[in-house]
Amino acid sequence: MLSFHKAVETDFSAVNQLIIDQLHSNVDLVENIGHYLVEAGGKRLRPLLVLLTANALGYTERGKQHLDLAAIIEFIHTATLLHDDVVDISNMRRGRLTANAKWGNAPSVLVGDFLYSRAFQMMVAIRDMEIMQILSDTTNTISEGEVQQLVNAKDPSVSEENYLNVIYKKTGALFEAACETAAVLSEASKPQKEALKRYGYHLGLAFQLVDDALDYEGDAEALGKNVGDDLAEGKPTLPLIYAMREGNKEEAELIAQAIREGGLDQLDTIVDIVKRSGALEYTADSARQQADLAIEQLQQLPDSPYKQAMVELAEFSIGRNH
Ligand code: IPE
Ligand code: IPE
Ligand code: MG
Ligand code: MG
Ligand code: MG
Repeated sequence: MLSFHKAVETDFSAVNQLIIDQLHSNVDLVENIGHYLVEAGGKRLRPLLVLLTANALGYTERGKQHLDLAAIIEFIHTATLLHDDVVDISNMRRGRLTANAKWGNAPSVLVGDFLYSRAFQMMVAIRDMEIMQILSDTTNTISEGEVQQLVNAKDPSVSEENYLNVIYKKTGALFEAACETAAVLSEASKPQKEALKRYGYHLGLAFQLVDDALDYEGDAEALGKNVGDDLAEGKPTLPLIYAMREGNKEEAELIAQAIREGGLDQLDTIVDIVKRSGALEYTADSARQQADLAIEQLQQLPDSPYKQAMVELAEFSIGRNH
């Protein structure tokens, strides 16, 4: 358990139980795939953001719906992972074979849809129009981000700005929504709601920047997923964008060609150029800046162990190896 789980340990166990309970289906394959992925764990950062926000704002003295909201957010995340591993043709997730590697693409896509729609069933039960609005917009944004990334694949001319837009949509938006919806549920003041939304936004960007660096420098065993998946798909992520910009002509052309072709034939050469160019430091610095911006927003919250845990969660997101 990571240090920032401790502040909300009881809520966290309740959410894990709720996640298991809400996986129920009369169709065995749905339950099998759902349990397979959920029981493999995962860091559960997004539900933690809901729990920490609701506790920091004192909601937990009045209600229990933050537990449902946390489970909803994790279901949306899990659905995106099922779909993501199909489109990324990935075969390792949370230290196990991906669902697509074990059962095939069709069951993965369909169970992903099941989890999305289960999240919406639970969301409606909260009966809060603002929360429904935010979460429906967010799932739409995530899908759009994944499609935009698909369009960008194998295109070495993608700009840093375009890349940042994609990572906001596919990852930042859900971090942002976790914090914002928890603030709405807690009836936070407008400045607090805005600050929490921005905290989630910057944290999400930091998180994905690090994810993209780890795809080049990470350790598959610690990560629980393979490295090199982005290059294999010809994804122009920040490490490559920076290395093309800063490297000499020959290096830039080697990277551009690797992006255009995809595959891992050139992995060692590309990793070498990326490392020499300082691209991983640049990506880490960008993540650091985003984490600092996230932490700055927390000034809007009263001091509490929950606020402290949110600082630690931001620090973890940029220092992590998994
Ligand atoms: C993986 O998210 C998908 C990205 C946005 C990079 P996490 O790294 O939070 O995945 P789990 O839930 O801990 O497995
Ligand atoms: C994940 O991006 C984004 C979503 C799940 C929507 P990645 O494709 O980089 O995530 P990993 O590396 O497979 O976890
Ligand atoms: Mg992926
Ligand atoms: Mg992906
Ligand atoms: Mg990744």
